[in-house]
Amino acid sequence: DKYVVILAGGVGIKFWPYSRNSKPKQFLDLLGTGKTLLQMTFDRFRQHYDAASFLVVTNKKYAHLVKQQLPELSENQILMEPLRRNTAASIALASYKIKKMNPKAKVLISPSDQLIFNEYIFFQAINKAFEGAEAGHNLITIGIQPNRPDTSYGYIQYIEEDQAEVKKVKTFTEKPNAQLAATFLESGDFVWNSGMFVWKNQSIINAIEKHIPELAEAFEDGEDYFCTEKESEFLRKAYSLIKNISVDHGILEKSNAVYVVLGDFGWSDLGSWQNLYEVSNKDIHKNAVNGNALLYDTQNCYIKLPPEKLLVVHGLKDYLISESDNVLLICKLKEEDRFREFVNDAKKVN
Ligand code: GDD
Ligand code: MG
Repeated sequence: DKYVVILAGGVGIKFWPYSRNSKPKQFLDLLGTGKTLLQMTFDRFRQHYDAASFLVVTNKKYAHLVKQQLPELSENQILMEPLRRNTAASIALASYKIKKMNPKAKVLISPSDQLIFNEYIFFQAINKAFEGAEAGHNLITIGIQPNRPDTSYGYIQYIEEDQAEVKKVKTFTEKPNAQLAATFLESGDFVWNSGMFVWKNQSIINAIEKHIPELAEAFEDGEDYFCTEKESEFLRKAYSLIKNISVDHGILEKSNAVYVVLGDFGWSDLGSWQNLYEVSNKDIHKNAVNGNALLYDTQNCYIKLPPEKLLVVHGLKDYLISESDNVLLICKLKEEDRFREFVNDAKKVN
């Protein structure tokens, strides 16, 4: 009675112009391996779990992509959200539906856009988390050793007790500001939230009822509608009542039933072009090139081009060059703060 719920409804502009609103990063083959991030996520868990134990939660406008990319899933395993209301809603939807199917289920929640480098160590952590969830009504997250004061993660401070495998969380701070993130990193007491969670289905439902009661209310009557032809109408109504909040802000920051299992398996959430550059294969001049390019006196660049393009570059260092669907972006690879501004401006003219 284990379920794997994959969240695949985020938008994310971080790989613009390659990722677009119509095709966010989880549906892209960002690494050039022939598999999209969603497919890599599914395949990783599929080695350990039956195809029937998966649910994918996505926006209805991406359902065709999920179907296309994961042909092993049947239609009722793809949960379609009528609106984007962030991860608390997606997790609630899956949880209330699972409750109808199997009230005793245990659930693993996974994002659809992460890389795991050592799967053996990864599944050791997952199994420990399942054992921990079995033992009590707790919410378990997988924690990652941080290596930079990145503000795009949740920071977890835990209570160190006799080397316990499942550690009680003292504080959970979602996306701290830069100064706080630096303090957390220096203290050495914090790990990043990976965004992967393991719990008894009933434990998360209890937490939703306690911390986001209006979300519980919206889904409470779902039992009468899930897995019937009235499901989509029910969801349209439910989603119109729900507010936009992440599970991290809505539940993990507030609950005192949160625990963490640490996993040293090598992890990247591919949150930016810079992250992608770091995990990509590079030539002797540290350029990562995806496409046809002639490079002269050029170093530390990430280049991604449509197959029909030829690029010739002289004298660039630390640049991103990315072209997709008639948009060409050339900017400094490391100035991520400005990236959002460029994309927002570009959307106004394009
Ligand atoms: N179905 C659905 N609907 N999925 C969603 C939605 C939604 O409205 N919003 C986001 N997702 C999916 C994304 O596609 C991704 O796979 C996952 O949920 C996490 O959402 P992100 O939007 O990527 O979250 P984040 O990266 O800002 O932060 C989370 O992940 C970090 C680690 O990568 C948090 O859990 C942080 O605490 C954590 O450190
Ligand atoms: Mg993310």
